[in-house]
Amino acid sequence: MSATPLNVLLVSSSLFGEKGNSRELASAFVDALQASGHEHQLTHHDLVERDLPHLGAAEMQAWMTPADERSAEQRKLAELSDGFLAELRAADLLVIAAPLYNLGLPTQMKSWFDRVLRAGETFRYTEKGPVGLLEGKQALVLAARGGMYAGSDLDSQTPHLTSMLGLMGITDQHFVYAEGLNMGDEPKVGALSEARTGIANYVDAL
Ligand SMILES: Cc1cc2nc3c(=O)[nH]c(=O)nc-3n(C[C@H](O)[C@H](O)[C@H](O)COP(=O)(O)O)c2cc1C
Repeated sequence: MSATPLNVLLVSSSLFGEKGNSRELASAFVDALQASGHEHQLTHHDLVERDLPHLGAAEMQAWMTPADERSAEQRKLAELSDGFLAELRAADLLVIAAPLYNLGLPTQMKSWFDRVLRAGETFRYTEKGPVGLLEGKQALVLAARGGMYAGSDLDSQTPHLTSMLGLMGITDQHFVYAEGLNMGDEPKVGALSEARTGIANYVDAL
């Protein structure tokens, strides 16, 4: 990746706010990036703090209405997704601080994906299947988990993220896991330390 300054979009979604383990990983990433001297711009959305609502019918219908035919209310409703899309298009690197909740993503994070996975905007349907429209981006997923799942059939979160990112054309994906965080103090300290090393290695390679 050679773009300078690096445009980084960070989305986090821990119910524990700044105390969340995924937020700790995100902070480790930001610290490592700052220490690297890599020129960058960072946009961060904490989707829980923002209380991002579920995608509803009226909002989706607003997008599906051609821009010049939208009512004032529909123009307002479309702003949220359009804003997220503009940020994502401008980003070189998407960093997802991903807690594992009930074997999946936090609902607020799914709501963010619901607003950027838009046919005709970030992917399009063809006779051969969907084609991603975002090119040249990387994604870094910082996954925080109470138990151990990575590399096993029980890890339903990784393939979900891989597919959603891939649908938009973001196929250059990197995953750093901190697992076993609810399995005792010692495993937790070890897992966070290993994840920090993974993050540092990732930043070194940027
Ligand atoms: C609502 C909720 C659901 C959870 N579900 C799971 C789960 O299905 N599997 C698991 O291993 N850990 C689960 N955990 C533990 C979290 O993965 C762990 O607390 C992790 O640190 C979450 O990231 P965070 O600290 O950034 O929020 C859950 C925690 C919460 C609060």
